[in-house]
Amino acid sequence: MVTIPFFVLNILLFLSSSAATPESGADHDLVRSSCVHASYPSLCFRTLSSYSGPANTPRELAQAAVKVSLSRARKVSNYLSTSVTGYNKRERVALSDCVEQIDESMEELSKTLGELKHLRGETFEFQMSNAQTWVSAALTNEDTCLDGFEGVDGKVKSNVKRKITNVAKVTSNALYMINRLNESRGRHR
Ligand SMILES: *[C@@H]1O[C@H](CO)[C@@H](O)[C@H](O)[C@H]1NC(C)=O
Repeated sequence: MVTIPFFVLNILLFLSSSAATPESGADHDLVRSSCVHASYPSLCFRTLSSYSGPANTPRELAQAAVKVSLSRARKVSNYLSTSVTGYNKRERVALSDCVEQIDESMEELSKTLGELKHLRGETFEFQMSNAQTWVSAALTNEDTCLDGFEGVDGKVKSNVKRKITNVAKVTSNALYMINRLNESRGRHR
């Protein structure tokens, strides 16, 4: 019987897992190394490694992160404007303010995505600075929405807070990916 030494097996496993880069879907090695210093690393890894579009370069990864943030914001906005009941007057005001904030946030994220899709060498720095400004603004809007729920308690409400907090976290990760894209580009020049 031929026994394969353990370290050879490990090398084989390593090679087979890293050799094939999928054409669409996320490159898990890139996702892992890019997420490791993100604000929320495990959320970053979870959301981006399950991303179904292309995510094999820092630029695609930044786009993917913004898309994740945008789609979560859209879900929360729909949820907040349709499925929430049992609020008093003051809370309903907080809620409708919040929908506005999240909708603004979605606009800023869409603008960011547009910029990331059309990055050009001559205007790279200007475009990155736009992207950073808009994602930061999106994050501020999400935080403002959360502030509106200060001191509002209860099960449904903590559910709302949890959803919004989740959007803010993926947005914060998206900002990190944009900063990372900007820095990687700076290094390669
Ligand atoms: C992008 O990176 C460059 C070079 O590393 C840096 O000078 C610039 O401030 C960064 N841009 C933004 C908007 O952070």
